[in-house]
Amino acid sequence: MFSGIQPTADSFHIGNYLGALRQWVALQETHDTVYCVVDLHAITVPQQPADLRRRTRVAAAQLFAAGLDPDRSIVFVQSHVPEHAELAWVLSCITGFGEASRMVQFKDKSAKSGAEAASVGLFTYPILQAADILLYDTDQVPVGEDQRQHLELTRDLAQRFNHRFGQTFVVPGPYILPDVAKITDLQDPSIKMSKSASAPQGIIDVLEDPGSVRRKIMRAVTDTDGEVRADEEAKPGVTNLLRIYSALAGVPVAELETRYAGAGYGTFKKELAEIVVDALAPVRERTEKLLANETELDRMLATGAAKAHALAGPTFARVRDKVGFLPAS
Ligand code: TRP
Repeated sequence: MFSGIQPTADSFHIGNYLGALRQWVALQETHDTVYCVVDLHAITVPQQPADLRRRTRVAAAQLFAAGLDPDRSIVFVQSHVPEHAELAWVLSCITGFGEASRMVQFKDKSAKSGAEAASVGLFTYPILQAADILLYDTDQVPVGEDQRQHLELTRDLAQRFNHRFGQTFVVPGPYILPDVAKITDLQDPSIKMSKSASAPQGIIDVLEDPGSVRRKIMRAVTDTDGEVRADEEAKPGVTNLLRIYSALAGVPVAELETRYAGAGYGTFKKELAEIVVDALAPVRERTEKLLANETELDRMLATGAAKAHALAGPTFARVRDKVGFLPAS
């Protein structure tokens, strides 16, 4: 299994944590797992170098802190393995311009600045993602629903390359992560909790201080009917809070509905806040500890990169040969 996450913020949020990180940790028990902090993807939109450097370490530290075990998973930084960029170039040469133009995430992400101002890197982003996946003979890619189209492109490119040059790539399948953890914005439950779309009040960060977490939960948007009950259509705010509670406490939503019948939102939110604070505290503490020793963290990432390179190198050697590049030595 291979998956990636961008180092574009000073903390992951609870949507990333429940939707990706926690599930990645569980998957390392049952699969061979490779996880990548995709810094090459991060520069598809402007980044301050100091921010990128800091956020790449913060992202990696949170992955380890959330429970990724360097003995069971390969955890590395994308730019440490040069084959990602090299394979992306080769794949871009078998991708149709029209095909790339149909990627909806580019349309969404470039909508703000306009397609004219967006970088070519943002446009070819899904091709780099395909390279990430194909370098590791990946069978399955655990991602959210929003990445389905990029995985379709990855499969198409793998099949096309194999057809044109002979069997080279494993054709990966999606492994769409269960939606239990579809976390929405606390202030606008109609949108996904997201660094780019949500206001700070709508997001709970993994590394956020407990006081702030409590305040945001107490102020989360609910409704006027006063019943702690899940109803996606009529009560999206309360439903979202129930989902967070259920995912963190491991208690089914139905049981929470019974537990909080007649209790009112105040009590429910207060107890949810403590659940969230208690769940995040160990991750925050371990992250801080890892960040306090940069030399050791960088060493862990160098080890991860060496393991990743041992897998990606032979794959790209096959590609070189199939495409007809002369041996370099
Ligand atoms: N595009 C993914 C996202 O935004 C991140 C990503 C980059 C990724 N490369 C990947 C995910 C490879 C899975 C596999 O979430």
